[in-house]
Amino acid sequence: MNLHQRNSIAPEQLLAQLKWRYATQQFDPARKIDPPAWSALEESLVLTPSSFGLQPWKFIVVTQAEKREQLVRASWGQRQVADASHLVVFAVKSDLRETDIDSHVDHMVKVRGTSHDTLSSYRDSVVGSLIQNREPAIRRQWATNQVYIALGNLLTSAALLGIDACPLEGIEREKYDEILGLKQKGLETAVAAAVGYRAATDKYATAAKVRFPKTDVLATM
Ligand SMILES: Cc1cc2nc3c(=O)[nH]c(=O)nc-3n(C[C@H](O)[C@H](O)[C@H](O)COP(=O)(O)O)c2cc1C
Repeated sequence: MNLHQRNSIAPEQLLAQLKWRYATQQFDPARKIDPPAWSALEESLVLTPSSFGLQPWKFIVVTQAEKREQLVRASWGQRQVADASHLVVFAVKSDLRETDIDSHVDHMVKVRGTSHDTLSSYRDSVVGSLIQNREPAIRRQWATNQVYIALGNLLTSAALLGIDACPLEGIEREKYDEILGLKQKGLETAVAAAVGYRAATDKYATAAKVRFPKTDVLATM
């Protein structure tokens, strides 16, 4: 093992967990994720990579039972929203501005001890590709693309910890924004995820995975 390698799980363990996970339809409302595991899952969100490192998001963990029942009504009645141990709403910044890029650069200077001068061409290229002459809808789509990486990260991290999850796109995003008061904070809902433990009655836990064969979806050139 060289210096750049770390102890990690075996390939077969990774695959076992990816096969074990499924989009959980029924959660056990009585089972809660313990604080250390939840804290690690929160960190998996924070550690998500993003294009230019800009992190154009906010992860909202909804804990109030009453709000979660309201959100069920904005999710075509999907009970996972209220029954899972935790619910994460993935929100994006509605309209990324030049000032957001500047605060990110300030943060980089602080964390890495580099100078603003060193980062000026990076700053200009980010502003050039994301802000100048870009419609807000394009920026929003870009931010949404980024936040889906966080969703993937959460799903895989949960699976590795033996924790169940259900990604949720079947939600009325504008209603979510209203219920959570996001618009006034410059945020909007992109997607959500319920995280917790499967109920023993969830028949989908044992359903076969429906995936195209590797030969159809993977090409080597
Ligand atoms: C972005 C995204 C949104 C999804 N939205 C929902 C949803 O609203 N409700 C639901 O029950 N499943 C939802 N799913 C689950 C998919 O149907 C499921 O992941 C897919 O059929 C593959 O099955 P598996 O995850 O159980 O392996 C969503 C999945 C993804 C990736």
